[in-house]
Amino acid sequence: TEERTLAMIKPDGLSGNYTDQIKIIILESGFNIVSEKMFQLDAESAAIFYAEHSGRSFFPSLIKYMTSGPVYTMILEKSDAISHWRALIGPTDARKAKVTHPNSMRAICGSDSQRNCVHGSDSPQSAAREISFFFGELSTGISTHDE
Ligand code: CMP
Repeated sequence: TEERTLAMIKPDGLSGNYTDQIKIIILESGFNIVSEKMFQLDAESAAIFYAEHSGRSFFPSLIKYMTSGPVYTMILEKSDAISHWRALIGPTDARKAKVTHPNSMRAICGSDSQRNCVHGSDSPQSAAREISFFFGELSTGISTHDE
């Protein structure tokens, strides 16, 4: 059965001009891009999106990174979209990904454990929350960024 996930190209992915390359991989991998949008997160909305990490030492730096430029979000659909997208992006730490998963997206466009260029929902619950955060009624307070 079809499943949806939230994919996001983070500020380093956009500034590094990886959007076209990432979208080609997405389409060649059989995902349907249901909806796509560019956003500029502010500190409040980034903190809500990453609320589960609010107690971590890297949280302030994560918010600074995620608000440093626009992000490009996509709703991806296919069977097993969540696990398939997570497999394509690779491990969180891009430095490790370059060694263990050299063909993964984070190995190609990421830099380290924070600047890892792409995001993917990790469960059906987070996919539903993250999709409604950007595309549904919870997206209030996030400004769209004109292309
Ligand atoms: P993401 O998969 O989007 O979810 C949480 C984000 O927090 C993660 O990607 C990284 O950008 C960041 N992150 C996770 N672990 C660390 C870490 N150890 N140090 C710095 N940033 C991290």
